[in-house]
This record gives sequence, structure tokens and C-alpha cells, in this order.
Amino acid sequence: MKTYKTDKSRELYEINKRYLTNGVASTLHKSPYEEFPIFIDHAKGSRLYDVDGNMYVDYMGGFGPMILGYANEELNDAVANQLTLGSHFAAPTVSLTQLCERLVDIIPCAERVSFESTGTEADMHAVQTARAYTGKEKIIKFEGHYHGWGEELRVSCSADTESALGPRKHPWRVLHSMGQRRAASDNVIILPWNDLELVKETIKREGNNIAAIITEPFICNSELTLPKPGFLEGLREITEKNDMLLIFDEVITGFRIARGGAQEYFGVVPDLATYAKAIAGGFPMSCIAGKAEIMDANLNASGTFNGNPISVAASLNTLEQLGRPGVYDNLNRITKMIVNGTCEIAEKYGLNIYCKNVGSIWLLQFGTGQPLSDLRDSYHMVDKKTYQFVYKECLRRGVRMHPLRGRSYVSTAHNEEDVKYTLDVFDKVFGMIKK
Ligand SMILES: Cc1ncc(COP(=O)(O)O)c(C=O)c1O
Repeated sequence: MKTYKTDKSRELYEINKRYLTNGVASTLHKSPYEEFPIFIDHAKGSRLYDVDGNMYVDYMGGFGPMILGYANEELNDAVANQLTLGSHFAAPTVSLTQLCERLVDIIPCAERVSFESTGTEADMHAVQTARAYTGKEKIIKFEGHYHGWGEELRVSCSADTESALGPRKHPWRVLHSMGQRRAASDNVIILPWNDLELVKETIKREGNNIAAIITEPFICNSELTLPKPGFLEGLREITEKNDMLLIFDEVITGFRIARGGAQEYFGVVPDLATYAKAIAGGFPMSCIAGKAEIMDANLNASGTFNGNPISVAASLNTLEQLGRPGVYDNLNRITKMIVNGTCEIAEKYGLNIYCKNVGSIWLLQFGTGQPLSDLRDSYHMVDKKTYQFVYKECLRRGVRMHPLRGRSYVSTAHNEEDVKYTLDVFDKVFGMIKK
């Protein structure tokens, strides 16, 4: 199995560094431990082709949106058709009404929806809506969860060490970027995830001033962690009892782990939910969905590109394709094949891994091989160095995964041939891991 030469990417990165901070447009386009990123020339289906002519079976999925794979012809046709009719009007369209109807039909908590362009905006809008509706100020947010890079919510998404998170019962707010004001998150209470008792204690202590709990339905950012049985149900019960809202950040899980997202998958319906990524198959769109009474709490979504007809056309077509019989069964089947094959290879080489799929997302963690309960566990249970080694060696052989954590996405374009290619590469790379 040959390893790739990527000289052109290296040269292009040198040029980009003159113009872009760190040489890239978004932080994770290059991971902190890579010398340079791969420059992409084009993509089709499940595969990417770089400027040096190398092919990659791709599991990054553009960080999640590419649920239909790359350059999906039907989706491209729908967008091209809208382009000929006009790209942006700052006015409602018939297609917008159709999309609203479809979303309300698909999303369990949706009576009304509202649009923006990014997940960050949707999450900002959701917490504002919760405050407007409840008249309360504070928000509970969990460690390791990412709700975009807005100043208020970008706290304690990760930390360099476990101790930097602060005491478990009263965690600190860990800031993530220079220039971020601590005061911007004064109304955010941080807690470790998956600990219902701690949530209850905190609510008791804080009194009646908490507007909402915002949570990813399972931790997709930082290290991957599933909810303990009863945890999401417990959050639902506590928020209802205490006149608080439950917000699911479904930016990753939406339309991906099931058509109705985490609400359908876990059977827990929040008051508000946010969506982005897969909602428009690779075009920029985000959405908030919720009960009418809550959504109407006096907050107009205001943004130049809200309900943009190109993204609306893309979303309508994406949801149409995802709604066809057997689509999710096939996504799950292919993803399961990867997970089963990966577990077999790990066993062959005596490696401890935790590998599991949740719909078309699959998780790969080296370390103890046991599921995590919260971000704090990851410091003593996850072997990040081995994952980084695997990431790099797989990339050099044509399998592209997330550079920092083993969260991978399968698209409707992935097939058995991709699975075989991937498992052959895993076999080679896992065999190289020193025990
Ligand atoms: C769960 C979650 N919420 C919100 C966001 C922010 O979305 P965006 O990057 O579109 O602003 C992300 C981005 O990765 C995410 O994973």
C-alpha cells in the first residue's frame, strides 16, 4: 500500500500563509499537529481528490453537511435551477413556504421554524428566545459541548487539562479565544454532562432564574459521549417542572442520526431545537424549531441571508432525497459495516477501542475501550496520541477522518467498496501501532 506525495499542497500552503492567519479559512481546516493541510481539487460522491491527484475516501463530510456526498447531481440541478431564477431577493418565496411545511412535518418539536445561515447564529437565537419566553436570564451549558463560536456560549467546550475545568460541582468557565470577554458568559452556568443529580442540585441552588438548559443530544464535539439511560428524559422532566426550556442543539444530529434527528432517535422532545449542517446538504443554512408560543416570544430573526432561495432550494432537495424509502436503513447498514470491521481489526491487533455508530455517525476512540460519561473522563480514558497517529497514517493512504477526534460521517454516496478500502487501510495502520 503506497503512501501519498502531497508536495503541491505543501507549496500552496506556503502561499496561503501570506494571506490567511494560520494559512486556512477555518481553524480545523488544518489540525494543530499537521504541517500543512491537503488542498482539494474536486470531489464526487464519497471521495475527494487533492491537487496532487490523490484520492481520499472521506468521512469528514465537510464537518457534517455532506450527507448526500459531494457534487450530488440532483441537488446541484435544484440549486442551478434556482440560480437561473435569481439567487437572493430579501423576500419570501413559495419554496420557503414549502420548506417550512416540510420541516414542521419532520421535526417532532416544530410548530414554527426560523432561519439563519450558521449553527452559531441559530444557537444564539435559541438562547435569546428562551430568555424572551421565560423572562429569566441564566442558561445551563455542559462541558465539552460546542454551540458555535458566539462569545457567550463558547465556554468550557474543552480544556488543556482536567484540572483547568475547575471543581466538578462548580466548574469554571473556560474561555477559548483571545479577546473573548469573561463577562459575556456571566449568565452561563457550566456543568459536567450526564449527571442528573448535579443538574437538580444546581437548579435548587440557583432558584427560579434559569431560562434554559442547552445540550447536544450526545456529545459530538470534544470526545464523543452518549447519554446515560434516562439522562435526556431526566432533563426533559426537570425543565418542565421548573418552568425552564430544554434546547437540543441538533446542528450535528439533525437529519443525520434519523430523519427526525435526536428527538426521533432518543425519543425525547425538547422545547426548542437548532439545526444547520446536513439541513441543506452542503449549502449554508440553519434553523430553529419549536413550539409556536415559544418561537413567538418577540424575537425576530434578522439576517441578510435568512431564507435565502439558494439554500432553501438545496434544503428542499436534500430533505426530499433523505425522505426516500430505505435511505436511513442504508446509511445505518454501511456505517455498521465500518464499525463491525473496525472492531474486528482492533481485536486482531489486541487494541482497546471504543467504536460505535449512532445512525450515520461513527465513533472511534483509543484508550480504555469503555464509553465515556463526560468530558472529564476523556483525560484519563482516551488515548489521543494514538488517534492522531491513526488519522495521519490513514490520510497518507487515502482515508480522511476528523483530525482531532474520532467522529466520522457516512453519506448516502458511501458504499461497500468504500468500506473495503477503509478497512484495508485500517488493517495496515492499526498493525503499525506499537503496543
Ligand atoms: C453541535 C454544534 N452546534 C453549533 C455549531 C456551530 O455551527 P456553525 O459552525 O455552522 O456556526 C457546531 C459546529 O460544528 C456544532 O457542532
